[in-house]
Amino acid sequence: MNINSNGKSRMKPSIHVLAWLLSLLTCMAGPTKSDSILTPAPEVVPRIHGANVFGVRPGHPFFYKIAATGTPPLRYQVLNLPDGLQLDRKTGIITGILPRPGNYVMHVQVSNTIGKHECNLTIKVGNSICLTPPMGWNSWNAFGLSVTQDKVKAVAQVMIDRGLVEHGWTYVNIDDGWEAGQRTAQGILLGNENFPDIKGLADWLHARGIKLGVYSSPGPTTCGGHLGSYQHEAQDAETFATWGVDFLKYDLCSYKWDIFDKAGDNSEAAWMKPFLTMRREMDKQSRDIVYSICSYNTIPWAGKVGANLTRITGDIRDEWPAIVNNGFGVIDQYWYNNRPGLWNDADMLVVGNTSGGWENNVRTNKLTRDEQYSHFSLWCLLSAPLIIGCDLTMADDFTIALLSNDDVIEINQDALGKPARRVLKTDSYQVWVKSLEDGTRAVGIFNMQSEPQAITVKWSDLNIRGGIVRDLWRQKDLGRYESEFTTQVGPHCVTLVRIKPTEALRALGNDTQTR
Ligand code: GLA
Repeated sequence: MNINSNGKSRMKPSIHVLAWLLSLLTCMAGPTKSDSILTPAPEVVPRIHGANVFGVRPGHPFFYKIAATGTPPLRYQVLNLPDGLQLDRKTGIITGILPRPGNYVMHVQVSNTIGKHECNLTIKVGNSICLTPPMGWNSWNAFGLSVTQDKVKAVAQVMIDRGLVEHGWTYVNIDDGWEAGQRTAQGILLGNENFPDIKGLADWLHARGIKLGVYSSPGPTTCGGHLGSYQHEAQDAETFATWGVDFLKYDLCSYKWDIFDKAGDNSEAAWMKPFLTMRREMDKQSRDIVYSICSYNTIPWAGKVGANLTRITGDIRDEWPAIVNNGFGVIDQYWYNNRPGLWNDADMLVVGNTSGGWENNVRTNKLTRDEQYSHFSLWCLLSAPLIIGCDLTMADDFTIALLSNDDVIEINQDALGKPARRVLKTDSYQVWVKSLEDGTRAVGIFNMQSEPQAITVKWSDLNIRGGIVRDLWRQKDLGRYESEFTTQVGPHCVTLVRIKPTEALRALGNDTQTR
């Protein structure tokens, strides 16, 4: 027998039938039906989103936009705002400088005419930044080498207009293709004719609560044949800081074939060298720049070069085998290394209209909607960076809804920063479990076959006891399950739930501030 959240008994079959019917309506809906949108519309009352922790280095500019939904206009207030910080009460953007290391707990309040939501945000001033996986957009899989400043700005405008910024999407990252053909006589790197004013773009984004990322390579040229930072690391780090860049993707590319291979030294020190060189130059700047390194061989030493993200896979494609390879395929080798401040990067989210980078031809995604649910759910479970790789100006309602589910994003942004572990694997399904800060667990039940199937998970197999099961995509409590849970899952689809064990529930009570 199951017992619902009010402690009343329920017939077990009725829960199962309900869950099964919901699954049928959604996961089996396929890529073309509008009823495959699972994310409920945002509530009209204010809700604050995003991680409950944020890292900044002492003395560096602090920049944080409170992400919140609710009927506008929203009013923002912060109690315990530390000296040195200012809040813009209309935009929710907090800026300033905190010179001394330490933890600062602020109490954030967001209100409108209908209600108010409040929660704590801890600022950790110290040497660690990027304490939860970065969330943003990257130009590569949308525009490839034909990226322009106007296209980037148009995407950022969509992130604002369609509410993504208010769900915590923060970075707008220009990938390869922005660099001028030649440095100045003084060796300064400039944007090309498609990027006439990168500093202006950074200012425009910052005024809207968005951060800017750029791309370079430790080699003489980038993977796309543009100028890299080789022997210009100091100048480039300074240029990026002067522009107001917040994120650098640093991609091995020609350093491998022009420098590394020719030197013939395969030691760890030789691999680390180019990334350490740029790290040291960035450390001289008085600005936090998230350091995203890309060499597919960086896991053992990514922490030693001060990386915040480390690519662990080749380029992703919008095909199910690529999701299997980049996401499901790497746990045993790599995921042990993930921790707050250092995130394994399984590459961009191939959702929505994408081009696959080198193709430079934006088209409909080859992944079914079911597969996109699995893709997004898995990246959230893995605590992987969430970097959107599509042309958001063409995004349909499905894509926006996929990227706007706060219950799902919350498990990615959990402050514990633990990646999920695969606890069950058969030929036809996999179950992944992620431990969360409040003692609850997120569980992804993935159907790996191309036919729908009912999957039963015994809690004992996951080493957990029963509790309230919440369907995260539908944002709905399904009731209490004592020993097992059965769900009907569509082809290559997922059922993503969060389990609140009885003890955790008692501790949490009805506290709506848990997020
Ligand atoms: C490599 C990276 C891609 C992209 C391109 C740009 O292929 O893996 O993500 O940055 O370079 O040239």
